[in-house]
Amino acid sequence: MFRSIAILLLLCTSLVVLLSSFGQKKTPQEIAELKNELGRQLFFDKALSQPNGQSCTVCHAPKTAFSDPNHAIVSEGMVDGAFVNRNSQSLAYVSFIPPLEKDALGEYHGGLFWDGRSSSLTHQLSGPFFNVAEMNNSDTTSLVSEVKSAPYYSLYKKLYGRIRSDEDAYDHICEALATFESSPMFNEFSSKYDFYLEGKAMLSEIEMQGLQLFEGKGRCNSCHTTTPDSRSGKVLFSNYGYYNLGIPRNGNNPYYTTFASINAQGSQAIDLGLGSVVNDVQQYGKFRVPTLRNVQYTGPYFHNGYYATLKETVHFIANRDAEEFESPEVSENVARQITGSAHLTNNEEDAIVAFLLCLSDGYVAQ
Ligand code: HEC
Ligand code: HEC
Repeated sequence: MFRSIAILLLLCTSLVVLLSSFGQKKTPQEIAELKNELGRQLFFDKALSQPNGQSCTVCHAPKTAFSDPNHAIVSEGMVDGAFVNRNSQSLAYVSFIPPLEKDALGEYHGGLFWDGRSSSLTHQLSGPFFNVAEMNNSDTTSLVSEVKSAPYYSLYKKLYGRIRSDEDAYDHICEALATFESSPMFNEFSSKYDFYLEGKAMLSEIEMQGLQLFEGKGRCNSCHTTTPDSRSGKVLFSNYGYYNLGIPRNGNNPYYTTFASINAQGSQAIDLGLGSVVNDVQQYGKFRVPTLRNVQYTGPYFHNGYYATLKETVHFIANRDAEEFESPEVSENVARQITGSAHLTNNEEDAIVAFLLCLSDGYVAQ
């Protein structure tokens, strides 16, 4: 009796599977939409950490342009007391970052993370899932088994079929997440500045003065580019180059007192940035130029969250060499030609900050 029911069931399911595979070739558009939806569900899934409880959004929340919604100097991982060494980056516009490469002059551009250690959105994902100071999964097998029991596993199967190997499944997870991170939700181009460029909004007097200083006396645009990017045609506020701005060590960084298994050097740890990725003294202390889009929401600022406010950040960049500041964490290679001596006045700094606030997405035209 039970056997015949089982056989009947088996027949029925095979029939359904057979039928659904006929005449159902998905268009590239449909595939892209499914991938994006799978990526979205993965991005928000708190079951993908060990123990459960931490999704990407803990450190990359939509309301703060996909940076840390708690504005921590560095975000705490799934395990209490586990800290990475750097400030959580905003993931808005992350898909525009080109791969890391060295140009003819020996200068580096592109690459993900503050130090460029990962070349593509798909590849970088090995980081957060397995980092003990982030989502703390022991291996791909444990991550993949979570996905198998997730409510969106049926969506996964629609796209990629049943999971056959953990490696393949992991590649698919990364692909879906990268698709989501490249979607319009991350690339709004809806700031007041964008409206201004399209002639649909006017900058106020102080904002306009800020823009002029940004491109003039402040020379900010030599790194935070305001001409359209050659590939995307968009203004991205970064040349994706690497510089040491001479930022002091942040003594309040909880990384210095986290577990020795994460930071064996304790308070002696020095962050060499790109220098340790490419193992080159000439690159010591350099970090990738961040986009300034949505910078209103992404504080505290710099790779080590040294400053809490935009005003202090701008003041440091404009006047580093004209006043007394704590000494740089890495004294080699400080970009002294184009930063540190713009000598902006207090009012001029205020104007630049007013302009930076025009770079937040979600502007509603008056
Ligand atoms: C515990 C906090 C935390 C969690 C959870 C986390 N991240 Fe991050 N993320 C960071 C930090 C910190 C950085 C910068 C690290 C560095 O530069 O060394 C970063 C950087 C990134 C970058 C590079 C951004 C850039 O501008 O180069 C991407 C992409 C990213 N994370 C995606 C993810 C995804 C996807 C998830 C979920 C699977 C995730 N992160 C989970 C903290 C976190
Ligand atoms: C020489 C290239 C260069 C110039 C010129 C420059 N910046 Fe930057 N900027 C950077 C780099 C690199 C960082 C990241 C440094 C770090 O964290 O180590 C940065 C970070 C910032 C940040 C913090 C962003 C964040 O998410 O943490 C702000 C704000 C900023 N710059 C504004 C300005 C303004 C305003 C000017 C002009 C007064 C300016 N910058 C000039 C290269 C430059």
